[in-house]
Amino acid sequence: MKITVIGAGHVGATTAHILANKELANEIVLVDIVEGIPQGKALDMYEATPVERTDSRIIGTNGYDETKDSDLVIITAGLPRKPGMSRDDLLAKNTEIVKSVTEQVVSQSPNSILIVVSNPLDVMTYVAYKVSGFEKNRVMGMAGVLDSARFRTFISMELNVSVEDVSAFVLGGHGDSMVPLPRYSTVAGIPLPDLMDKETIDRLVQRTRDGGIEIVNYLKTGSAYYAPASSTVEMAEAIIKDKNRILPCAVWLEGEYGLKNVMVGVPVKLGKNGIEEIIQIELNPDEQKALKTSAGGVEVLIEKVNL
Ligand code: APR
Repeated sequence: MKITVIGAGHVGATTAHILANKELANEIVLVDIVEGIPQGKALDMYEATPVERTDSRIIGTNGYDETKDSDLVIITAGLPRKPGMSRDDLLAKNTEIVKSVTEQVVSQSPNSILIVVSNPLDVMTYVAYKVSGFEKNRVMGMAGVLDSARFRTFISMELNVSVEDVSAFVLGGHGDSMVPLPRYSTVAGIPLPDLMDKETIDRLVQRTRDGGIEIVNYLKTGSAYYAPASSTVEMAEAIIKDKNRILPCAVWLEGEYGLKNVMVGVPVKLGKNGIEEIIQIELNPDEQKALKTSAGGVEVLIEKVNL
């Protein structure tokens, strides 16, 4: 198993570190355009492996030769959001970056599976899908796992119960229009609406929507990376270990949920082929409308990038 992580910044380096600590790959390649950064961080991580007792070789590079024949490629390259900057402000710059990264990844690893993390997430996943020419099961975006992890955290804080017993579902685009589904969110199997009043649920849903910006406002010079990295690794692990996990991911829809030709977050089964199946769950009219609105926002951006 060989995994390449493009972008050795906060999200990329943290992802590589967790992958190594979980020994999910024999070889991890960390790529960045800044000279010295991927080399230094990779060597530092490599030197932690004897202590952690994990056999992952970690290599840092500014080129793509070392990435050859990767099974899985995680794309985190790009500019992070700054305070006052919306995800959409990043559109033009990150499109250029993700396009060039994808071209180089594909030339070295034509059989790989791509997980995109760069923002604005759904559109960058579309850019990678379009530029790679890969089948739709091999290109996906990491957003829903992070958004639901945030929702789960807030539910657990509110009820003072273990996060382990909380599961939550968040659909739609990664952004202000994301669609958390309280009635499909449970604590030890009990649906959320049986445990909290509507006002409390609405408050937690809003905090989930604002989850990214809450961290940006604290950090000031960067955006979240621990939870994004953990969420990315959860997807990678499902694929590497062929677990058939059901996780919300940004995927290319061709009619599912009444949506066509758009990249948006829905529950999928993740296994060795990437997206093994798109899971269609019953939505009520309000939820369906919210998902449609969210997808509409992504469609506008897809048109803007004009690939
Ligand atoms: N090729 C490779 N690496 C690149 C390229 C490129 N063309 N362009 C930029 N990078 C690298 C930067 O040099 C930097 O090291 O991408 C890295 C991004 O790291 P950070 O600035 O620390 O950003 P990070 O917090 O990791 O976020 C990365 O993930 O969650 C999203 O919104 C976030 O789009 C952002 C991405």
